[in-house]
Amino acid sequence: MYPRDCELPTSSNAAEFAWQKDDVFGRIAGRYDRLCDLFSLGIHRRWKRRVAQVIAGEPWVTLLDGATGTGDILLRVLPSVRGQQRTVIASDISPSMLAIARQRLAAQRGTVELRQLDAERMPTIASGSVDAYSISLGLKICDRGLAMREAWRVLKPGGRLIVLEASNIPWAPLHKAYLSYMSLCMPLLGWLATGGDASAYKYLLQGIRDFPTAEALAQELREQGFDSVAFERLSLGVVAIHTARKPLA
Ligand SMILES: C[S@@+](CC[C@H](N)C(=O)[O-])C[C@H]1O[C@@H](n2cnc3c(N)ncnc32)[C@H](O)[C@@H]1O
Repeated sequence: MYPRDCELPTSSNAAEFAWQKDDVFGRIAGRYDRLCDLFSLGIHRRWKRRVAQVIAGEPWVTLLDGATGTGDILLRVLPSVRGQQRTVIASDISPSMLAIARQRLAAQRGTVELRQLDAERMPTIASGSVDAYSISLGLKICDRGLAMREAWRVLKPGGRLIVLEASNIPWAPLHKAYLSYMSLCMPLLGWLATGGDASAYKYLLQGIRDFPTAEALAQELREQGFDSVAFERLSLGVVAIHTARKPLA
């Protein structure tokens, strides 16, 4: 089914997060959107606007958004495809995050289907059944090798993959300064905002630090068999949007 055996290490989970062991997203679901504003100083809104534009610009009828969280990306995608015959599956492992997504996407009923799914294994999604698969700020907190294999499996030949994720500022000294700033500020902000729930920022910080560079992620996607791999850095490279295609043949 896959073009070749994946060449990634057996575990490629940058944050070493396992939803089975820590329901952190369940605990912070109600505060998640405010935490995003706090941790990124509001800049995540710009990243999400851009990735939504990229998703909406791809030719799809069926879109699966993995690790959809509170539906923040889809809320920005759906207005661009209103009135068109589209099917959107919003999936996440956390029922609490999905409950918020359900409320926020209520006006889109009929277009959006919500499903509790582990991005690493989605047995209820048929192979070769979706035209586009997107995952935003979720790849660093799951085993990306497994998640990308699942993306490959569920995509139709010619289907598109869109990934928004933490990345690297190409000028190394600036990247180092950014990581130092995050290491100093995030625990303090996180501690204050979550009332001392250390998990929320611990995973985020480790995921940012250990996620591959934009070039390395592009190479991993090629090794998984995707073609037309490209990336766009945002905010100097703090995050990047990768796009790729499952080959037609
Ligand atoms: C940082 S949030 C991103 C949410 C949303 N995509 C956004 O950009 O706002 C990460 C989400 O990934 C979900 N998640 C974590 N591990 C997962 C897994 N293995 N499969 C599916 N979702 C997962 C969490 O429940 C959480 O909602």
